[in-house]
Amino acid sequence: MADQQQVLIGGNKAGSQIFMDAAMANRHGLITGATGTGKTVTLQVLAESFSRLGVPVFSADVKGDLSGVAQAGKTHEKISERLQHMGVTDHPFEGCPVLFWDIFEKTGHAVRTTVSEMGPVLLANLLALNDTQSGILHVAFSVADDQGLLLLDLKDLSAMLNWLAENRKELAREYGNITSQSVSAIQRKLLVLKESGGESFFGEPGLNIEDLMHADFSGRGVISLLDASSLYSNPKIYSTFLLWLLSELMEDLPERGDAPLPKLVFFFDEAHLLFNNAPKALIDRITQVVRLIRSKGVGIFFVSQYPNDIPDEVLGQLGCRIQHGLRAFTPKDQKAVKVAAQTFRQNPDIDTETTITELGVGEALVSTLDPKGRPTMVDWCLLAPPRSQIGPVALEEKNRLMDRSPLKGRYDTSVDRESAYELLAKREEELRHKRQDAAAELEREKAAAKTEKRKSSGRQRQSVGEALIKSVARTIGSQLGRSIVRGILGSIIGKKR
Ligand SMILES: Nc1ncnc2c1ncn2[C@@H]1O[C@H](COP(=O)(O)OP(=O)(O)O)[C@@H](O)[C@H]1O
Ligand SMILES: [Mg+2]
Repeated sequence: MADQQQVLIGGNKAGSQIFMDAAMANRHGLITGATGTGKTVTLQVLAESFSRLGVPVFSADVKGDLSGVAQAGKTHEKISERLQHMGVTDHPFEGCPVLFWDIFEKTGHAVRTTVSEMGPVLLANLLALNDTQSGILHVAFSVADDQGLLLLDLKDLSAMLNWLAENRKELAREYGNITSQSVSAIQRKLLVLKESGGESFFGEPGLNIEDLMHADFSGRGVISLLDASSLYSNPKIYSTFLLWLLSELMEDLPERGDAPLPKLVFFFDEAHLLFNNAPKALIDRITQVVRLIRSKGVGIFFVSQYPNDIPDEVLGQLGCRIQHGLRAFTPKDQKAVKVAAQTFRQNPDIDTETTITELGVGEALVSTLDPKGRPTMVDWCLLAPPRSQIGPVALEEKNRLMDRSPLKGRYDTSVDRESAYELLAKREEELRHKRQDAAAELEREKAAAKTEKRKSSGRQRQSVGEALIKSVARTIGSQLGRSIVRGILGSIIGKKR
């Protein structure tokens, strides 16, 4: 049935229901408004609707208040009023299937990835490297990728960088100049990342994105919530993780044509953190991913205070707009309101700019995409209430859910496979022997040359350099058996999962 594929947003002034066509979810969306105006509850309403349609959802939970989506809501006068206004009679209170995730491994399943999988682009962003340092990081990945060497954690990367510095003369010919000062600078930034808790993020077992794509036994899409309560103290770690996730989805999911339902809906709360101080090159790549991920069936909803928190190139690709109230006290506010109003297709019955400043809590101006993909005229909307609980889930309930999680045990303990660090250490040992042998050989040759005047010591020395690269290649080559190819945001393409 057609209207089964619709997501109820709310009701307009006349009480007519406003829907979003689920088939248009991969044309992305934007939820904006001042603090306390209802953004998180709107996200919750959309997330539970997608879940009911069988679509898995991923969202960061910044204040912990989204976790209530796991628990049934309760009847309340204000909720009944809303339902009555939009003529909804069927509103069973129910929770959704939820998986809890946590980068810092405390309140949910651990989300990890490897240094190799994150790639140089996002890692340079995470470490806030300058151009020179970023160039060296690219060399580190280049050497590792060419050889199929997997860098699992920060320790591996650190070992790889040391190796680069030590062998910079031999590497210079192929990879250009590597200064030990720049390598040290990167090492220091790695240390800072480690100290801010970034270490737990790297390692194995890495998150398998398949685990974000489940449905429960009744066919409802599972909602994955990432604990982002320490987002503000680690904005770079979060934004990099979320970008990495997008990048993985982008590179791993197959192309598909238009479909009645998206494969996954991704909510990017506090999206301004993603774009704050992001270099233009990164924004360009994000823009590209947002554009291309559509054909993979992934819908992205950015949630932020103002539409102009989002770069124009990205903003232009967001189909569904839900604008909650904004205050217009300062000239800066007024400008933001104006910009917000201008992004809508105007409605002759609504003074968009004034209305934005007068919206009550849980009210919004809404424009969706019609079946042809054109924006609908902006309309005033009283948002539907959620069926689940507004506010955080009770701790006991959360613990009970965690205990019953189908993924229990899968990500709990990190393992340190024999990785680059260990391999490079072993390699170093072998190299030391080789260098000693080569030096001894050289001595012997020199002695022999005195009498025979035949062999060239230069040639011999060069072959030590060659042996160095080849021997690393051999060790590392045994890890993947092929070189690594990277996508737009640096994710590894064509992985077998
Ligand atoms: N759609 C809604 N239905 C019922 N109550 C709502 C709705 N939207 C917001 N509210 C009320 O407003 C409060 C604040 O909303 P919230 O989503 O947390 O704001 P924001 O995320 O913008 O800071 C909620 O705790 C809830 O009581
Ligand atoms: Mg909120």
